Amino acid sequence: MTMSFKRGVVSAIAALSLLSLAACGSDGKAEGDGGSGGDGTIKVGFSQLGAESGWRTANTESIKANLTAENGINLTFVDAQQKQENQIKALRDFIDQDVDVIAFSPVIETGWDEVLQDIKDAGIPVVLVDRTVDTTVEDPFVTWIGADFTAEGVTAGEWVKENHPDAKIFELQGTMGSGAQANRQDGFRSVIGDNVIGEASGNFTRTEGKAAVEAALQAYPDLDLIFAHNDDMGLGAIEAIEAAGKVPGQDIQIVTVDGVHDGLVALLEGKFNYVVECNPAFGDQLLELIKQVAAGEDVEKSTIVVDEAFDQTITQEVIDGRSF
Ligand code: AHR
Repeated sequence: MTMSFKRGVVSAIAALSLLSLAACGSDGKAEGDGGSGGDGTIKVGFSQLGAESGWRTANTESIKANLTAENGINLTFVDAQQKQENQIKALRDFIDQDVDVIAFSPVIETGWDEVLQDIKDAGIPVVLVDRTVDTTVEDPFVTWIGADFTAEGVTAGEWVKENHPDAKIFELQGTMGSGAQANRQDGFRSVIGDNVIGEASGNFTRTEGKAAVEAALQAYPDLDLIFAHNDDMGLGAIEAIEAAGKVPGQDIQIVTVDGVHDGLVALLEGKFNYVVECNPAFGDQLLELIKQVAAGEDVEKSTIVVDEAFDQTITQEVIDGRSF
């Protein structure tokens, strides 16, 4: 991994700290102890992209359960409500607050150049969470933790290819321009792209997923399989299919990504056919990364959260044993 940015930050922090302690005496916020705040905690600004799905809710819960005062973190958490401008404002506020580490989950991939450069100029290390960025800024983040969205799309595509090679597929996409949408689409289509007869975005929400499938049932009366980029949109698809007098899971098969509680219940009930997990419960791993980054330790450039996949052989016991 490229660690020059972080090392530079840590060195600069150490130098600044010596200066400020010498100049200001006891009131040290003190970058010099490896990025920790003066009270020994690490000041973290976290910009969550929204609360659009069951996955996001579980992810937020996991982050808040781990980035706690007991674990040495002084957390400022801001929900951007799926709006990039809100995220950029939060990131600028974190610069003004002079936090030790900025963590954020970018709603889309592009549009971050200016604010990422400003964060870099301020010497604050960035930990990227869940989704990815596409930026011209050199070394814009120290480390990233999230799922392999492309692999999730490939896994979904392989199941369809194996079980329904002639499927006429409607692809229900996530937020356009997000890493989760673009990479799941790429992975899925690399396996079974020729079978996709239509596509629309449901913005990762149940309501918009339902509306997109209502329109798709009119536009593509032949469709017999939906690949939804998340469970919530798949659950919206169930409502649209049932309202149209068809049977989800039978007349129209549904393959989704996430594996949150409601999605796996739909799988157990036979309304979903296959679910590729995207595990949101990585707050503990995020905590360790943040501590390492604040302490100036070397960290891997990326941490891939491990996923699995489920078919209709899933049991209630498996669902009950999960944390999300
Ligand atoms: O970025 C992860 C995706 O975002 C999840 O699959 C989806 O449910 C969420 O909205």
